[in-house]
Amino acid sequence: MKAMKIGVLGTGVVGTTIGSKLVALGHDVMLGARSATNEKAAVWVGETGKRASHGTFTAAAAHGEIVFNCTAGTGAVAAVTAAGVDNLRGKILIDVSNPLDFSKGMPPSSMFRGDDSLGEQIQRAVPEALVVKTLNTVNAHVMVAPGQVNGGDHHVFVCGDDGHAKARVKEILHAWFDWKHVIDLGDMTGARGCEAYVLFWVRLWGAQSTADFNIKVVK
Ligand SMILES: NC(=O)c1ccc[n+]([C@@H]2O[C@H](COP(=O)([O-])OP(=O)(O)OC[C@H]3O[C@@H](n4cnc5c(N)ncnc54)[C@H](OP(=O)(O)O)[C@@H]3O)[C@@H](O)[C@H]2O)c1
Repeated sequence: MKAMKIGVLGTGVVGTTIGSKLVALGHDVMLGARSATNEKAAVWVGETGKRASHGTFTAAAAHGEIVFNCTAGTGAVAAVTAAGVDNLRGKILIDVSNPLDFSKGMPPSSMFRGDDSLGEQIQRAVPEALVVKTLNTVNAHVMVAPGQVNGGDHHVFVCGDDGHAKARVKEILHAWFDWKHVIDLGDMTGARGCEAYVLFWVRLWGAQSTADFNIKVVK
């Protein structure tokens, strides 16, 4: 796949891990934050080199031919709204966020009770973006290197309302991150399931000595 301009909304471990992987693949990545002078983003740019840059959510969305949303669940709708309807129109927006509420400490609770999801809220906030939910069910390091768990023999999920966008994201998961097994959960209401799973993921993490694990669906 040709080198592209990618916008990554989010300066946490997910945004910087995905951003670094994309730069290593030859893409031109702008990390977005609430402030154009975000310190974490500036450090990441210093460490990552000339194909890395940073700016506001708005600037990163304008920069990207494809955009990743890697912001905290409680701020994700605000982040994509700040990114701007005009900057995301017609673009694939890969949403990896989870609706986790840490306000009462660990373990977190979900922001939803089964009749809505962050994926749906984000799609409603930027209706002309082609939102595809994926990668939210694994740790940041596994997102970009699935082969480090069971040789890559495990599953990741996609859902979203636009079939062409989902097909493209499946190609991206394979070509950029080396995912071998992708299960399509259907339209964006599938996010209700894969986001709810993350509460179980947190319990599995607590029950093991590593966050570098995943599930394999067997029939
Ligand atoms: N950590 C993982 O391995 C993992 C795995 C799967 C999914 N996820 C999901 O991926 C997302 C990113 O996780 P993370 O651990 O990298 O980072 P995080 O700490 O959850 O989120 C950091 C980003 O959220 C933005 N943010 C926070 N509050 C905001 C608000 N009120 N309005 C707008 N933006 C706000 C921050 O903006 P500033 O830069 O301006 O501070 C920052 O860019 C989360 O939704 C998480 O649940 C994480």
